[in-house]
Amino acid sequence: MTKSRTVLSGVALILLFAGVGAASLLFRSALPAISPPAPDSFDRTLVKQGEGLAQIGNCTGCHTMSGGKSFAGGLALKTPFGTIFSTNITPARETGIGAWSRAAFVRAMREGVARDGSHLYPAFPYDHFTRASDRELEALYAFLMTRPPVEQPTPANRLVWPLENRWLVAGWNLLFLREGPSNDNDRGRLLAEGLAHCGGCHTPRNKLGAEDTAHAYDGAWTDGWYAPPLNATSPAAQPWSADALFAYLHTGLSKTHAAAAGPMGGVTRQLSQAPDADVRAIATYFAGLMKDAPGARTPLAAIDRQSEIDKSDPEGAALFAGACASCHAPGAPMMQQGRPPLSWGTPLRVDSPHDTLHVIVEGLASPAGPTGPTMPAFGNDFTDRQIAQIVAYLRARFTDLPPWPDLEQAVAAVRKGVGQ
Ligand code: HEC
Ligand code: HEC
Ligand code: HEC
Repeated sequence: MTKSRTVLSGVALILLFAGVGAASLLFRSALPAISPPAPDSFDRTLVKQGEGLAQIGNCTGCHTMSGGKSFAGGLALKTPFGTIFSTNITPARETGIGAWSRAAFVRAMREGVARDGSHLYPAFPYDHFTRASDRELEALYAFLMTRPPVEQPTPANRLVWPLENRWLVAGWNLLFLREGPSNDNDRGRLLAEGLAHCGGCHTPRNKLGAEDTAHAYDGAWTDGWYAPPLNATSPAAQPWSADALFAYLHTGLSKTHAAAAGPMGGVTRQLSQAPDADVRAIATYFAGLMKDAPGARTPLAAIDRQSEIDKSDPEGAALFAGACASCHAPGAPMMQQGRPPLSWGTPLRVDSPHDTLHVIVEGLASPAGPTGPTMPAFGNDFTDRQIAQIVAYLRARFTDLPPWPDLEQAVAAVRKGVGQ
């Protein structure tokens, strides 16, 4: 009796401690509001450094709506758990981070906790940003606090029950957040895993939406696009050398691969302005990860089976000749400017046709660096069936890989903006 009572009180004590521990994790304290610091109170070199880091982290990519004011937020991010709106990170007092001290900003970036103590959702990649150094976070803070303040409220999120309860994120953090700066002396790896958050799109996620680090850079779906592998499983036709990667990340075009499209286009437009040394470090790191990929060991010559495929698929051939050949046929003026042959683009070589379909339906905005032709959108010119025919033709003519199944469904999915 006494014994079991002791055991019981022991258990109660443990539960009590666990409860207190959990509560302090669940409910974080608010940090005091400050008056927005005067922009000229920040060191200019620090602000400039912060600008470069913001480009590496593509802060604007998530925090600026198309046609909206820079960093004023309001962009809808679709996740499997519902829609989350990015917040206003201009120094606006009421609706932005104007009242945030540096400590509050650092806590958000390292721990995913807002100034008022509530937990932020990991759609904000603080699980990566936590790796940045104190000095880098100070520079980012200086950069953001010197932007023009824009009062613009953030729309309410639309999440599946029970996720509107922000404290639930505390459990996620316990499981998946490895908090704190990294002292990795490989600058490329540090940036890739930290501020540049390349795994945010290229690493598959588990059921709770956390990156599956055992499959780092194995390729993953993001917003209806497929971000291909960036490791030894890369299906690229040609080697992703450090120079090719630097050109791609820095200009949006690799002459031995393709142009960066969709979400990657936005990433490269920011990286094109970031410090060269940092972009080169990232390029060197990924070249190392991809050095044993098949295309790195045995580069593929350009494939073009035109005479054979035009015979077996005259309809596809006619569509291609009418709409695409003026730019993409061997010898076309655009090709003479040194654009890559279609057979060297990874989108034609992956298991799903979605990226190729996106490019055809939506067109391809000019890469950051080279000027010259851009790809027009063909979504309104063709039916689903015709687009499926063109894509089947591309895959047959420009690769040695099996045909893609269910193309028409994939066209419909791409038009609706959904993935796989
Ligand atoms: C992949 C998209 C994405 C990127 C990239 C991104 N953010 Fe965010 N960020 C978000 C979302 C979404 C939220 C809101 C999360 C929430 O409401 O829980 C957010 C919230 C924040 C907050 C908290 C603000 C508040 O009002 O609560 C800060 C600070 C922030 N981001 C800074 C940055 C900085 C600095 C960068 C670049 C280094 C950056 N973010 C890049 C998506 C992103
Ligand atoms: C917002 C999501 C997103 C982020 C963040 C992102 N990528 Fe991508 N990336 C994509 C998508 C989607 C594609 C496929 C589109 C295409 O091929 O144009 C892609 C394509 C690529 C390719 C081309 C691969 C090939 O074989 O053709 C490379 C290289 C690449 N990304 C590197 C990076 C690096 C390095 C980073 C971090 C600095 C990064 N990506 C961050 C989404 C992203
Ligand atoms: C006015 C010129 C132009 C026309 C017409 C055009 N494209 Fe493009 N296309 C481009 C440019 C520019 C790019 C980006 C540079 C690159 O990737 O080589 C591109 C890129 C692509 C890509 C991505 C490259 C890759 O492998 O990832 C595909 C796929 C593609 N085009 C298919 C087509 C198809 C199919 C048609 C006809 C329906 C077509 N294009 C018509 C200019 C054009």
